[in-house]
Amino acid sequence: MGTPVISAALFLLVLGLTWAQNPLKKHAAPPKATKTQCCDDVRALKVQVANLTSLLEELSKKQEADRITLVKQVMELEKLNQQQEARVIEAESKYSEINNRVDIMQFQAMQGAPQTTLDAIYDCASLYNRNYRISGLYKLPKDEFLGTPELEVYCDMEKNGGGWTVIQRRRVGLTSFERDWKQYKNGFGTINGDFWLGNENIYRLTRQPTVLRIELEDWEGATRYAQYGFFTLSNELNSYKLFIANYSGNAGDSLRYHNNTNFSTKNKDNDKCVDDCAQLRKGGYWYNCCTDSNLNGVFYRHGMHTKNTDGITWYGWHGPNYSLKRVEMKIRPQNFTP
Ligand SMILES: *[C@@H]1O[C@H](CO)[C@@H](O)[C@H](O)[C@H]1NC(C)=O
Ligand SMILES: *[C@@H]1O[C@H](CO)[C@@H](O)[C@H](O)[C@H]1NC(C)=O
Ligand SMILES: *[C@@H]1O[C@H](CO)[C@@H](O)[C@H](O)[C@H]1NC(C)=O
Ligand SMILES: *[C@@H]1O[C@H](CO)[C@@H](O)[C@H](O)[C@H]1NC(C)=O
Ligand SMILES: *[C@@H]1O[C@H](CO)[C@@H](O)[C@H](O)[C@H]1NC(C)=O
Repeated sequence: MGTPVISAALFLLVLGLTWAQNPLKKHAAPPKATKTQCCDDVRALKVQVANLTSLLEELSKKQEADRITLVKQVMELEKLNQQQEARVIEAESKYSEINNRVDIMQFQAMQGAPQTTLDAIYDCASLYNRNYRISGLYKLPKDEFLGTPELEVYCDMEKNGGGWTVIQRRRVGLTSFERDWKQYKNGFGTINGDFWLGNENIYRLTRQPTVLRIELEDWEGATRYAQYGFFTLSNELNSYKLFIANYSGNAGDSLRYHNNTNFSTKNKDNDKCVDDCAQLRKGGYWYNCCTDSNLNGVFYRHGMHTKNTDGITWYGWHGPNYSLKRVEMKIRPQNFTP
């Protein structure tokens, strides 16, 4: 929009300069021309040139201001888009919550009845076996056998046969995962949104032979998964060390590098490195030296997700600088049959 105006101004400026350099060519012809007249003309032209120069400066300043305004507007739109996205996800989880309230109430009523060890409810798989088939929030009772306290969990009862207890989720991006040892031990976040179920809970839930399934989604909407036929953690005394085996999937085996590795947080450096991986990668994880995946890293939004190495990464799929849009880690007993 500003370009034609500037071109016109430039043309005038060049014209003015030509005039200023050869004022006599035009004004020498009339016989009455005097030295004063000539010099007055030159002075007038000089003023014009000066005026045109300042006009040009003003124009280019205005153009720069327009550009900045445009950039600001784009950034504003991007922010609005993010807020909208967060709202949609919030609504989604509210819907799921309402959907499950009836079920939960039924379940809680049932929990009043005494249980035998055989039909004990200690995870989503045992709920599934009791015909709970809707995904959502459930309250697991305290369990003597696993030593688990009463625990709120999210059960995925639909995907890949159901019966999955979700132990981690990233999708909203408003919950920080840069937490200390105690928070990673006990869990944090909201079960319907982003959360870590807690190392102590995961340790207890995986005392029976357990399968781990990791589902990933990128910013283009593609999905991949990694499944481990065996998954367990050591207890706290042994720093919640990770054991995994029998990988299958299409995302790449990016947890293998973390096998036989202690859990580390920003205030407990148990990694196999001189660097402090938990602080570098800004999460709690089984840091080796340091990562081949970083599922508890920083959530970066669209546009920001390829700029840092501390994001939610899975090297086997998108490498070290691509922070994923969505992650879910879920577990189920090995002997579960849908
Ligand atoms: C140059 O600008 C000044 C002030 O802006 C104005 O008074 C003057 O008339 C202008 N001269 C010409 C030749 O346009
Ligand atoms: C891995 O799978 C093989 C073959 O199914 C099985 O024999 C082995 O016990 C599994 N390993 C673990 C640690 O579960
Ligand atoms: C993890 O280490 C154990 C030995 O401690 C081994 O049996 C298992 O195969 C390893 N898992 C992977 C995925 O390499
Ligand atoms: C892992 O944890 C155990 C027990 O907490 C400890 O003895 C061992 O030194 C730790 N390993 C590393 C590499 O920090
Ligand atoms: C990842 O980012 C770091 C700096 O943030 C850069 O040095 C490195 O080359 C990047 N790696 C890839 C594969 O893009």
